[in-house]
Amino acid sequence: MTIRAARHTVAALQPSLIRKLSNSAIGKTDVIPLWFGESDTPTPAFIRAAAKDAIDECQTFYQPNLGIPPLREALAAYTNRLYDTDFTLDNIAVTPSGMSAMAVALQCVIAEGSTVVLQSPVWPNLPAAAEILGAKTVRVPLRPRDGSWTLDLEEFFAACPPHTGALLINSPNNPTGWMLEDDEQRHIIDFCRQRDIWLIADEVYNRIVFDRERAPSFADKVSEDDKFLLINSFSKSWAMTGWRLGWITAPKALLHTLETVAEFSFSSIFAPTQIAGITAVEAGEPFVRAAAERYRAALATVDTAFSALPRVHCPLPQAAFYAFFAVDGVSDSYAFAEQALHQCGVGLAPGAAFGPHGEGYLRMCFAAEPPLLQRALRQLRPLLE
Ligand SMILES: Cc1ncc(COP(=O)(O)O)c(C=O)c1O
Repeated sequence: MTIRAARHTVAALQPSLIRKLSNSAIGKTDVIPLWFGESDTPTPAFIRAAAKDAIDECQTFYQPNLGIPPLREALAAYTNRLYDTDFTLDNIAVTPSGMSAMAVALQCVIAEGSTVVLQSPVWPNLPAAAEILGAKTVRVPLRPRDGSWTLDLEEFFAACPPHTGALLINSPNNPTGWMLEDDEQRHIIDFCRQRDIWLIADEVYNRIVFDRERAPSFADKVSEDDKFLLINSFSKSWAMTGWRLGWITAPKALLHTLETVAEFSFSSIFAPTQIAGITAVEAGEPFVRAAAERYRAALATVDTAFSALPRVHCPLPQAAFYAFFAVDGVSDSYAFAEQALHQCGVGLAPGAAFGPHGEGYLRMCFAAEPPLLQRALRQLRPLLE
């Protein structure tokens, strides 16, 4: 008897190469783990305290599917502050993570057999969330040019077949740190309007930007009539990866659909987590800014170290907390990441984990304390020289 998933889109999913590599190191205590997408800073104490208080107040019951209204209001106000927009709680659906925000968003607007077009390399969970629903994905390459990553928008638009259901844009991008500018975002919105297709934007790294306070967002360029869904998360901006809290900003007309899909997907989120979320968006601004400053300094450390290594080529990220670099002579990123693990004791993510356009690259998460990052760079040096 063969035991396997009945749904062919599930059976066809490939397990994550980052997990495969990190699982091979379980039990190894001397690894510097720079392979996952998270900072080594714990969630700030004032956010943790809000959740503890809510537990002590016995806020342990089911909650509304779209999230508690005070959190939805706080998220609308936060977005309005940041981007001078006028969203209300009727534009906001709270989800248990950015990942589930993406899954729910796609469930609402992607028909089986339609095509989702996205840039590549990209965090593998995004195309997988579309493929699991029976959508086809088309990947358009980001290319290094003049020391940074770029997307050729004409090439991107030309890659959209007649039955394109959605564009899925992850800017700032994981793993490259590529970021769209305002005029490029306006072009993309015009294209979606002309073609009547959904625009799904993943902006979970919008507060980790190196030359300004926030990334350009589609939020301040769309209107209520646009087929637009914006995905965000508490994970990266407020160091809350383990809490599992995210949100979708959507046209009011779609909220009822989002509510129904939420009911049949996760049926509400733990109240103390949501209360921690309110505290994060209302009182977390100094933390968000200080964290961005720390990542900026960490990037400078990595850039200095890599500049002294002629075999290493790292287009400078504009945002997020990753160095995505190529090494002369390396074509098999998984084999090289294994060498980094076993010879240098450093966990890197193989570029192949981010799709075919990532092969030949390695991703290093530099959201680590300076001494640890320095040690990782020192240990990697013999392999990179
Ligand atoms: C581009 C991107 N989107 C979404 C997420 C999801 O974040 P979470 O599910 O932790 O909210 C991640 C996490 O790594 C990411 O890199």
